[in-house]
Amino acid sequence: MEKHMVAITYRTIGGQIEVFFFPGPTPEEVVKQYQQLIGTPILPPYWALGFQLCRYGYRNVSEIRDVVERMKSAGIPQDVQFSDIDYLNQYEDFSYNNDSFADLPQFAKDLHNNYSMHLTLIFDPAIEVDYAPMNRAINADAKFIQWPRADLVPTDTQNRYPLIKNTSIMLGKVWPVRNVAFPDFLDTEPKTNNWWINEFMLFHNQVEFDGAWIDMNEPSNFGTKFRNSTTSTEKDDNAPDLECPKVGNDSKWDLPPYETQASFFYGNDGHLEGKTLCMIGKWGRNKYYLYDSKSLYGWAESFATHKAIRNATGKRGISISRSTFPSSGKYAGHWLGDNTARWEDLRSSVIGAQEFNIFGIPYVGSDICGFGQNTTEELCLRWQQMGAFHSFSRNHNDKNMAPQDPTRWTTVAAAARKANLFRYRHLPYLYSLHFKASLFGGTVVRPLFFEFPADDFVHQISYQFLWGSSMLIIPVLESNKTTVDGYLPSTATWYSLYDAGYGQKAPNGNSTFSAPWDSLIPVFLRAGSILPRQTPAQTTVLARKNRFEIVIGLLNDVGNGHSIANGELYWDDGDSIPPADLSTHNFHSFIFSFDATSQNATFIITKTKTATNLPLPALENIEIFGYQWTPDFSTATLNGNSTDITTLSTYNSTSQILNITASGLINLNNGGSTWTFVLANNLPIQTTTHTNGGGSAEKTFTILLGFFILFFVI
Ligand code: NOJ
Repeated sequence: MEKHMVAITYRTIGGQIEVFFFPGPTPEEVVKQYQQLIGTPILPPYWALGFQLCRYGYRNVSEIRDVVERMKSAGIPQDVQFSDIDYLNQYEDFSYNNDSFADLPQFAKDLHNNYSMHLTLIFDPAIEVDYAPMNRAINADAKFIQWPRADLVPTDTQNRYPLIKNTSIMLGKVWPVRNVAFPDFLDTEPKTNNWWINEFMLFHNQVEFDGAWIDMNEPSNFGTKFRNSTTSTEKDDNAPDLECPKVGNDSKWDLPPYETQASFFYGNDGHLEGKTLCMIGKWGRNKYYLYDSKSLYGWAESFATHKAIRNATGKRGISISRSTFPSSGKYAGHWLGDNTARWEDLRSSVIGAQEFNIFGIPYVGSDICGFGQNTTEELCLRWQQMGAFHSFSRNHNDKNMAPQDPTRWTTVAAAARKANLFRYRHLPYLYSLHFKASLFGGTVVRPLFFEFPADDFVHQISYQFLWGSSMLIIPVLESNKTTVDGYLPSTATWYSLYDAGYGQKAPNGNSTFSAPWDSLIPVFLRAGSILPRQTPAQTTVLARKNRFEIVIGLLNDVGNGHSIANGELYWDDGDSIPPADLSTHNFHSFIFSFDATSQNATFIITKTKTATNLPLPALENIEIFGYQWTPDFSTATLNGNSTDITTLSTYNSTSQILNITASGLINLNNGGSTWTFVLANNLPIQTTTHTNGGGSAEKTFTILLGFFILFFVI
């Protein structure tokens, strides 16, 4: 491997800098070491790995009911329905529109009871300053981002609002018509977070939501006047804009000698406070300047919301945050923000998800089909196919854009159905990867160079990725294609897991793979792996009740003619709140190992941890790729006892796929801790004996002996 020199230059204007080195040596070990410092990622509830649908601009509940019903009729698995700010009464948190969204409480119940689905609602941090939640905040002594001194407060604005007129709260403007305040999630006393948690609980008493989507938390503010401009940046209403000090000593926070690159994103007139609050603002009960700590706002809100969602629902729940910081992954997931319906955005989302796994936030995904601008049938189809491989898999669309839920086009519906069914079948594997990341750290969606660091060619690859170490995905990211060029690292062997050549070895190195619209995108199983899977269903709640399945990709000819593979499964109830130390949580874990020779195949399941009161569906299907011998199904034993697999099992000597199927094949609830399944191979009858390969020699000898005995009797 080539050695590369790396140089980092820091130009600082003050403060202190701490640098941590993580020695690895492999990239995956670097991430694990990093997560020892920042914390391992949150374990999402199982349902949060299901497909999710959203848009900005649903006009009422019945429109949402219709789309959920259409998804179900089209047989496209869906677990979560979102509502954006449309549901709110005047865009105010912890409220719902009593007219168009009056049915929201019943809808939440119906999603749970009639559809086995979940509801995620948006919560922005900005709190309108003239309604009940603000009143409760003031009474609870909750704090908000504030001016450092009373003389800086613009009293004209403050005096408009009786609840806050004697405070130093810094007022901004977001979606509500009137001014808003930003909760002090770094409050040095627990009062602000407790108030936030209480608001979630009160609102949950009205609407039984399951997940929280926390947006606009950079924090985002529309109304900060750019310094040299007299006009407000966005909104045109009566609430006054926020203005930051422009002169004198107080201007030093907003007018530092150097401003960050991001300040100029909207042009050269940009400044630090653009689209956000003044840097002179303080939080932590007037302790920290935003100038020093603004990037922590989303992190701090995630921390508070993590508790809020659990307290409100009594379940594990999940939050998705737009703004993140190192260690956000411990409390929340992330979506990649407002993308645009363009091919380059589809491509960058493939990179973004890998990056956020490196950052320790593996529950991540993009707005499938693209947020801004109208998408196209082809782009949406390809995005649905790729997005089915991101942990957070949600189609989301901007207001006023044409509908883009997968049922809009029959082609996209078919592609989404197929991709989601594949995803749901393999969720036990994806969930196990998240479980392991939560327990031990590490990535879930993984760049290729993490697994094959010594392969120089993979260092160039951004647009393929892995699930863990065992599944490799090659998405189609360009228009007008029915094939995709991809690379399968040569130090491993790969079996196709998708339409073209299913179960067959795929060529190593660079190849062109078939990828028409009606096929899955190319997916490959790494030889030597065992993946747990489950018959899919319309939702994860239903799928979790279906039989377990196993797929095995054999690594052949490993020493003395052995073919082997290994894997594992982590399984819990998927919804309860785990203890802070996940290792004491109520979960099952299993190790799988498979070892075959020309004589027989032995599949061993070892239970390494047992959960109480958590029955599992039976394992009823084992599919094995690369099986080189003809098995004798009549010889199957489980823990030494004969077991009947003859009716449904198949072996195809051309494709070398062995499929072992039987109802109730392996009951994982029978109190055992090891299950050993053995299947002998049908050996070719030989007329001469030979010294090695004892099995065939013995059989030949038995046949000859039988012949002599018969002769003697006659
Ligand atoms: C900005 C978010 O990024 C977007 O996803 C959302 O639809 C809008 N805010 C409206 O809430």
